[in-house]
Amino acid sequence: MTAQPALFGRPETSGTDVMPRHIGIIMDGNGRWASRNGLPRSVGHERGVEALRRTVRAGQKMGLEYLTVYSFSTENWRRPVSEVTALFGLLRTFIKQDLKRLNSEGVKIDVFGTRNGLPDDISKLLDLAVSETSSNDKFRLGIAFNYGGREEIVRAAALIAQKVQAGEITVEQIDEQTFSDALDTRTYPDPDLIIRTGEERRLSNFLVWQSAYSELYFTEVLWPEFGEEQLRDALLAFTTRERRFGGLKSGAA
Ligand code: IPE
Ligand code: IPE
Ligand code: MG
Repeated sequence: MTAQPALFGRPETSGTDVMPRHIGIIMDGNGRWASRNGLPRSVGHERGVEALRRTVRAGQKMGLEYLTVYSFSTENWRRPVSEVTALFGLLRTFIKQDLKRLNSEGVKIDVFGTRNGLPDDISKLLDLAVSETSSNDKFRLGIAFNYGGREEIVRAAALIAQKVQAGEITVEQIDEQTFSDALDTRTYPDPDLIIRTGEERRLSNFLVWQSAYSELYFTEVLWPEFGEEQLRDALLAFTTRERRFGGLKSGAA
């Protein structure tokens, strides 16, 4: 059990370099959790939804502003159809069961990723989650669903190319800001911290552009076991990091 640092929470620390503004989470390890407990993988994913609920609640409580969760990658189509179907089923259930509550809590939902290949009803549910919560501003929940960082970058490049072709901007005007503004995450700051549960140490195509200077935190905890305590551990680790962004250690001139 980690002692709860006093520095977490609004308003004193919100938006400072102590409390991250935006956390991204690669929610990994559902399958391993299930097999270690002698359960089907689908049960691991179900427990994963509960971990998501706990984590969103904890983030709200700690005064986090933006949370992006990686729910389904453009590479997850490589899994058996039965598993993909089960994951879509869970997204349906999550939106149907939680949208009303999240909306009443002032959560604004954003969806990152492509709609290519998604069943129509899933696409409509994602639109509904976004439109119903569009005027909220207490907490931003980004759902990366059918998301791949490279796919997002390619779409952004195409969008910019179209603008050039239409004469809206010139090639010379393209800079990093133009690019960030063409990404799905355009209304989010870059993530200060990316957490990956499970035992892997990779990004697996998550927020590839946006993570250029993110702090990375890997934990052995499998996603179904993640919650407030584990989020606090990650935040505590974050406070020990020195972010230099290519500059020098403060006071080292
Ligand atoms: C994460 O858990 C959920 C998704 C990728 C959708 P996994 O299903 O990848 O679990 P492991 O990695 O097999 O344990
Ligand atoms: C990353 O996990 C994708 C999500 C958590 C949605 P994966 O389990 O798909 O990643 P790899 O295959 O281990 O890289
Ligand atoms: Mg995995």
